[in-house]
Amino acid sequence: MVLELVDVEVRYASVTALRGVSLRVGAGEVVTLLGANGAGKTTTLRTISGLLRPVSGEIRMDGESLAGLPAHEIVARGISHVPEGRRVFPAMSVRENLLMGAYRDRRNARTGMDTVFAMFPRLAERHGQAAGTLSGGEQQMLAIGRALLARPRVLLLDEPSMGLAPLVVARIFEAITEINRAGASVLLVEQNAHQALTVAGRGYVLETGRMVLAGPSGVLRADDRVRQAYLGENVV
Ligand SMILES: Nc1ncnc2c1ncn2[C@@H]1O[C@H](COP(=O)(O)OP(=O)(O)OP(=O)(O)O)[C@@H](O)[C@H]1O
Ligand SMILES: [Mg+2]
Repeated sequence: MVLELVDVEVRYASVTALRGVSLRVGAGEVVTLLGANGAGKTTTLRTISGLLRPVSGEIRMDGESLAGLPAHEIVARGISHVPEGRRVFPAMSVRENLLMGAYRDRRNARTGMDTVFAMFPRLAERHGQAAGTLSGGEQQMLAIGRALLARPRVLLLDEPSMGLAPLVVARIFEAITEINRAGASVLLVEQNAHQALTVAGRGYVLETGRMVLAGPSGVLRADDRVRQAYLGENVV
């Protein structure tokens, strides 16, 4: 397993946000993590990235514990995080935002940037534009591009389709497939369960901090609870 969470518990002061969460992402996999608002999806990604510390349990990359490592060291191990809400640097240009992703590996910045521009030609056209003036979809492309400049082996994506028009969502999901084909594993947090289960081979369902379901995407798509709660289908 490239990335593995074993029995992870996370608390915010008095609130327990994750209770015994376990999940695995293998080499070459796209894995989706589904769940309603407040289920703990963002908390899971922030804990993997070292932005939150679990009170118990373990997170491993290539079998080695990440416990106690600062966030930048976790990036250095090959995990990049595209946060919820994109969080690009608004006053900086597209190019400067991308360079922020390459801060620990300047030598490969040029090739990395070319790869991102080939994936998202819109960003190439707007390379000098302030990121704050980009559309929501372009900002999402930029946030993904910035994460790719760190050359991750595991890409964590927090609701990349949120608030975007269907055509842009389709482009983002295509890009996820391309990134995966190029060799990175992906852990995809989504509320758009239909698209997520199409791009992912396996998935997990989180409910109020507990993992309640796990399995291949086809099995989850056919599960009555998933159909009702996440695919908006009527189940009789
Ligand atoms: N900084 C914080 N302080 C206290 N509680 C928090 C904090 N951040 C999140 N929580 C709580 O932890 C729980 C999980 O939140 P989290 O943001 O991980 O959910 P989520 O699944 O990402 O939801 P959404 O789909 O709305 O993004 C929620 O009950 C939330 O209120
Ligand atoms: Mg969230």
